[in-house]
Formats: sequence, structure tokens, C-alpha cells
Amino acid sequence: MHLFFFLKQRNPGISFRMTIAAAQGVFFNAFFFGYMISPSLCHRFVGYLEEEAVHTYTVLLDCLDKGKLEKWAETKAPREAAEYYNLPEGSMMRDLIVAVRADEICHREVNHHFADLPAYAEVDHLHVHINDKNRVVIEKIDPDERR
Ligand SMILES: [Fe+2]
Repeated sequence: MHLFFFLKQRNPGISFRMTIAAAQGVFFNAFFFGYMISPSLCHRFVGYLEEEAVHTYTVLLDCLDKGKLEKWAETKAPREAAEYYNLPEGSMMRDLIVAVRADEICHREVNHHFADLPAYAEVDHLHVHINDKNRVVIEKIDPDERR
């Protein structure tokens, strides 16, 4: 989702948008077939991808704090992004980036967690949570609850 929020800041032309759509189409199909072959490898790959995103957003926040991105320092978060991340009225781009980074931390943890599970482990996805220490927790499930 955050891709669209950042795209809106730049409002790229049709060729850029088509390139992104084509890249996503290629990736989706490659990932789909890759997932059928090795789900854990795919989760590990996404976990590292998300880890890199967390690093990138951390560097971005550092640049903002050091005054290297003057325009973004004065830019309010787009309304749709603020609503999506439940940010308070008047939130700035920095607030949005912090929220996006927190989201990416969750994605990283969940993907590394699933990469560690055996491929055909039975997991009730409704009971997977991230705790306040950014660790993945799977609640114990009452077997009667499943019925
Ligand atoms: Fe993500």
C-alpha cells in the first residue's frame, strides 16, 4: 500500500506506471511458482526484502532528521495514507515513514517466522500476532475453537 502513497508524491507518467505494473506482473508469477516449489525460501526472501526496507526507511528518517530532505520535512502526510495508518490530523511525512517502517518490521518478522516453520506445518493464521517486542507469537489454540 505504501508504494501508492509514495507514488502519489511524485505522480509519475504512464510509462513509469506501466513499468511498475509489468515488474509486479513478472514478480507475482515468479513468486507464485517459487512458492509452490519452496514456501520457506520465498518467506525467507521476503523477510530479507522487508529487512532491507526497514533499513532504507531508517536511513530516510536519518536524512530527514539531519535536514537533508527539506521538502519532505515540510510535507504533510497524504490524507489517504494518514487514514490508512490511523495517524492524527496534521501528521507529516516523517510520521508516515515511521508508520510504514513499523509495518515493514511486522512483515519482516512474520516472513522470517514462516520461513522457520516446516513447509506443511498447520498454522491458524488468525492466531498469529506481533507482540510489543516485535516478535511473532502464535496463540495456543483450543482444539474445540476450530470447529
Ligand atoms: Fe512490506
